[in-house]
Amino acid sequence: ARVCLVTGAASGIGRAVARRLTGRGHRVIGADVKDTDGVDIQADLGTADGRALLADAAAELGGGRLDAVVACAGVGVFDPVTVRVNAFGAIATLAGLRPLLAAGRDPRALAVSSVAAVHETDPAIVAAVLADDEEAAVAAARAAVDRGEGPLVYASSKRALVRWVRRAAVTDAWAGAGIPLNVIAPGIVRTPLSRPMLENPETRAVADAGVPMPLHGYADPEQVAPLVDHLTAPENTHVTGQVVFIDGGADAVLRGDEG
Ligand code: NAI
Repeated sequence: ARVCLVTGAASGIGRAVARRLTGRGHRVIGADVKDTDGVDIQADLGTADGRALLADAAAELGGGRLDAVVACAGVGVFDPVTVRVNAFGAIATLAGLRPLLAAGRDPRALAVSSVAAVHETDPAIVAAVLADDEEAAVAAARAAVDRGEGPLVYASSKRALVRWVRRAAVTDAWAGAGIPLNVIAPGIVRTPLSRPMLENPETRAVADAGVPMPLHGYADPEQVAPLVDHLTAPENTHVTGQVVFIDGGADAVLRGDEG
């Protein structure tokens, strides 16, 4: 069986992905900050200790190899912790587990960004993430929150992740090692993360304007999981460095035909 590690496996998209891959007969190693069903590694990916714990535990549970890694864990709060988890946590997951993938069979890696990556961002946050300077990124995020520009923090965490993936995917460490590395950008998905936003009519209206989804409206996590399954399966031999929007058309609406 393939051995697949999924972060954020306790809830929402990560849980749906874990279930989908389990249903395919793969062995899934779930990681999450929450210690619930389907979580084999409890680690806070917003911290250096949690990231190190993930790498150690994954090496042990995977027997020194992994065949797929899905970095899904994330938060949606307008706070600097969003940069720690969504950007640095996801990047540490991919980079930290890459040696295990290199020892795997038909290895594949995927990160979960968001259509918010095409929203307005704070260049200082994005630049600090790409420079691997976590404290500078957190300071820039704190400044954005203090200016009342909290949404920039989430968008910047997701844009930085996309840019990191596109840079890394074509390097010797990934493409050169035969490991496709992609990122998906969902539109609005009905999960515990988006529920508070969708329950409040005011924030829901802002969300609908920012993420217009002319095809089928909001998605369920089970409608995202098959794409993750495909991109992380051996059958995906040539898709790499791509940001695949699964957003009901939101990116095409927002960026038009030149996006
Ligand atoms: P969710 O809240 O249902 O699941 C996220 C999981 O990540 C939770 O189980 C949570 O405990 C875990 N997590 C949070 N912080 C963590 C940390 N520090 N360390 C380890 N695990 C942690 O949310 P959802 O919606 O399933 O989100 C999954 C990913 O999809 C996130 O990266 C999110 O930004 C992204 N996304 C979600 C969209 C939505 O509309 N729900 C849209 C676009 C992207």
